[in-house]
Amino acid sequence: MSLWQKHAIIEKNSIILVIGILIVIAIGGLVEVAPLFYLKNTIEKVDGMRPYTPLELAGRDIYVREGCYLCHSQMIRPLRDEVERYGHYSLAAESMYDHPFQWGSKRTGPDLARVGAKYSDDWHRDHLRDPRSVVPGSVMPTYGFLEQTDLDYAHIDQNLKVQAEIGTPYTKADIENAQKDVVTQATADSPDAGDLAKRYPKVNVRDFDGNPKRVTEADALIAYLQTLGTLVDFKLYDDKANIR
Ligand code: HEC
Repeated sequence: MSLWQKHAIIEKNSIILVIGILIVIAIGGLVEVAPLFYLKNTIEKVDGMRPYTPLELAGRDIYVREGCYLCHSQMIRPLRDEVERYGHYSLAAESMYDHPFQWGSKRTGPDLARVGAKYSDDWHRDHLRDPRSVVPGSVMPTYGFLEQTDLDYAHIDQNLKVQAEIGTPYTKADIENAQKDVVTQATADSPDAGDLAKRYPKVNVRDFDGNPKRVTEADALIAYLQTLGTLVDFKLYDDKANIR
């Protein structure tokens, strides 16, 4: 019996075929899954990445609450058209402090992974209040209520604590100062800005929503948006091609 004919046994007997399929898939699955049990880390660390400040974290929660991810991705694929439009492709490390990550799966609006520092705070405020005022023809909904709503940060330290429990390296000082840090970051010329920047390098400290009297949800959301994609200095990586 030639090998060809032996194969016919499998093809004609569905039970044997199913068992064969299961064995092949099990081998493939093991090869993919087994290393995850002994690899300490599957994400290469990248210089510059730091956990979100409490204000940015609160902004991220608003981003999730409002479902911005339903229209916006935060994941630039390593394809030419994407890289030319949005900038350097996303690295795994850029999402390492996102629980859960906001890669998204739909782009009704553009990718936001590198939107930080692309526009002014005023632009964001106007755009959230009335997208059509800055981008005629935009189909983005209005979010004007965010600048009318005081940010609820009474329990932001608990939020940091939970993040720390699932692996984000917040220190004790970060957690203890969380409430204070929210106000510091949202205040222009804050005397505590230096301390904040020591714990959170490259932090933007200013009044984001143009209303210095209140810390609003717009402050938090804009602080978050302005940090997206700004932490890693890609000039250090690009030409050396040392992204492993
Ligand atoms: C119904 C889909 C939809 C939702 C929901 C949505 N957006 Fe948009 N967004 C768009 C579209 C379309 C554009 C492109 C036109 C424009 O700039 O307004 C856009 C543009 C943007 C831009 C400018 C991006 C750039 O690079 O020019 C930002 C920033 C933004 N959205 C933030 C948000 C945030 C924050 C939320 C949640 C509070 C949100 N969007 C919710 C559709 C949406």
